[in-house]
Amino acid sequence: MQITSPLAEDYIAEYCSQNDEALFRFHKNILENHPQQHLQSSWVQGELLSFMAQMKRPKYILEIGTFTGFAAMCLAKGLQPNGELHTIELREEDAKQSLENFKISPHQNQIYLHCGNAKNIIPTLLYKWDLVFIDADKTSYIDYYNLILPQLADDGIIIADNVLFHGQVFEENITGKNAKAIHEFNNYVANDERTEQVILTVRDGLMLIRKVVKS
Ligand SMILES: C[S@@+](CC[C@H](N)C(=O)[O-])C[C@H]1O[C@@H](n2cnc3c(N)ncnc32)[C@H](O)[C@@H]1O
Repeated sequence: MQITSPLAEDYIAEYCSQNDEALFRFHKNILENHPQQHLQSSWVQGELLSFMAQMKRPKYILEIGTFTGFAAMCLAKGLQPNGELHTIELREEDAKQSLENFKISPHQNQIYLHCGNAKNIIPTLLYKWDLVFIDADKTSYIDYYNLILPQLADDGIIIADNVLFHGQVFEENITGKNAKAIHEFNNYVANDERTEQVILTVRDGLMLIRKVVKS
């Protein structure tokens, strides 16, 4: 199930910037030729990630789930000149291809790719994250959230993708393994007093999370 009306999606896509020609061509090529193109963020979602990163101007960005590197290249646009984006990909083939893909990004020298299971790699990256994008296996979202939170800067932001999971989380009896895991994640964050959150109906649902900082 698509969360928002196809009419709205088409209209939004038409009026959303497409200024980065090289990245736009790259994204289109994946959509037309990659057998798992559905895993890639939509162009509009990529523009939103890029917009948020440019507002935030992070020094350290973490992405969990690289796939082809599209979202990483969008996020990297907001990095400070001496900033770093670390992205983690489990599948070797995707990791290798992403390294090639990053060559079209003016920020390629600021992008660090780690190949392996994010649960093992996150604890080895000792940075204070300003911006984190969680977009990998849905059954591990709670683990990723708990691993990241102690390393999140006080004014840092976590963006979690697919939190409406094709509308399956609206069902009274959720049956799908991934939808169940996402629903549990949404509940977990909603009941966590350490953070506050908001959900946007962009593509498959994005949750924005930040720490509650007591003054
Ligand atoms: C939805 S895709 C990421 C799309 C990308 N973030 C984008 O927006 O263009 C999810 C990726 O997470 C990877 N992945 C799945 N489980 C993982 C894990 N345990 N550690 C690291 N990456 C994982 C998958 O191989 C896949 O490439």
